[in-house]
Amino acid sequence: MISVWRLIGRTCKMHCYENLVNCLTCWLILMGVIHLLTHRKIQSSYGRHMALSPPVRTVPARLAWFIQEVPALVIPLLLMVTSQKPSIIGIYMVLGTFSLHYFQRTVIYSLLIKGKPFPLSTMVAGAIFCILNGSLQGHYLLHCSPLDDEWSADYRCRTGLVVFYVGMAINIHSDYILRNLRKPGEEAYKIPTGGLFEYVSGANYLGEIIEWFGFALATWSLPALAFALFTLSFIGPRAYYHHRFYQEKFKDYPKIRKALIPFII
Ligand SMILES: NC(=O)c1ccc[n+]([C@@H]2O[C@H](COP(=O)([O-])OP(=O)(O)OC[C@H]3O[C@@H](n4cnc5c(N)ncnc54)[C@H](OP(=O)(O)O)[C@@H]3O)[C@@H](O)[C@H]2O)c1
Repeated sequence: MISVWRLIGRTCKMHCYENLVNCLTCWLILMGVIHLLTHRKIQSSYGRHMALSPPVRTVPARLAWFIQEVPALVIPLLLMVTSQKPSIIGIYMVLGTFSLHYFQRTVIYSLLIKGKPFPLSTMVAGAIFCILNGSLQGHYLLHCSPLDDEWSADYRCRTGLVVFYVGMAINIHSDYILRNLRKPGEEAYKIPTGGLFEYVSGANYLGEIIEWFGFALATWSLPALAFALFTLSFIGPRAYYHHRFYQEKFKDYPKIRKALIPFII
C-alpha cells in the first residue's frame, strides 16, 4: 500500500496542484454557505436531530465515526510519508497537529462514544468530506505552502498552536462531559453541567471552532481558513438548535447559558 503511495508521490513529485487547491478551497467555503442557507430550519440528520420518518439505514455510532473520520487521519500521514520534499519543521509541526486532532477523533472518540446509530447517508457524506479536506490540507501544506524553516518560531505559528490546543482541550473535556451524562442503558437527554457548559450549550462545538481558527492562524493558509469557516457554519447553527432543544425541554434550563459564545449568542 505504502509503495503505491510512494509511486503516486513520485509521479506527483513536489508539484502543487494550484487549481485543484483553489477549487477545493472555494468548495469548502461554498459548502459552508449552502449549509447555512439550507439548515436554517432543520439540522444535519444525526443524533437528536435525526429525522425519524421515513426510516433510514443506520450504522452503529462507533463504526460510523471511525469510517467517517479515518480518511482525514490517514491521507495527510500518507502524504507526509511519501513526500519527496526536504522536511520543514514548521510544516510538519502544523500538519502533525491536524493529524493529532484526527487521531483523537478517529481512534479515541469513536471508541468511547455511546450515542445513537448514525444514518448511513450522513456517514458517507462525512467520509467524502474528510477525504477531500484531508487531501486538501495535506497537499497544500506539503506542496504549496510558502512557509519555511523559520515558521516554527513565528508568533503566528506559536499563537495559532496555543489557540488550537486550548480549543482541543475544551472540545475533549466537553465531549467527556456529554459522554458521561447517561447511565448505562439510558437514552434520554440531560442538562450538561461543568466546564464551559456552564456558559454555553455547545461547549464541544465552541472548542472545535476555536481549534480550527487556531490551525488557520498557525498555517497562515487559505485552505485552513476555509475549513475553519466551514466548521463555524456547520456546527455553529447546530449549537443554536441544541440550545433551543434544551430550552424547550427543560423549564429550569439555566438562563445565563448562551448557545455558542459565552454572554453573547
Ligand atoms: N469540524 C466539524 O465540522 C464537525 C462537524 C460535526 C461534529 N464535529 C465534532 O464531533 C463531535 C460530536 O459532534 P455531535 O454533533 O455528534 O455532538 P453532540 O450532538 O453534542 O453529541 C455528542 C454525543 O453526546 C451525546 N449527547 C449530547 N448531548 C447530550 C445530552 N444532553 N444528554 C445526553 N447525551 C448527550 C450524543 O448522544 P445522541 O447521539 O443520542 O444525540 C452523542 O453521543 C464534537 O466534538 C464536534 O465538535 C465537528
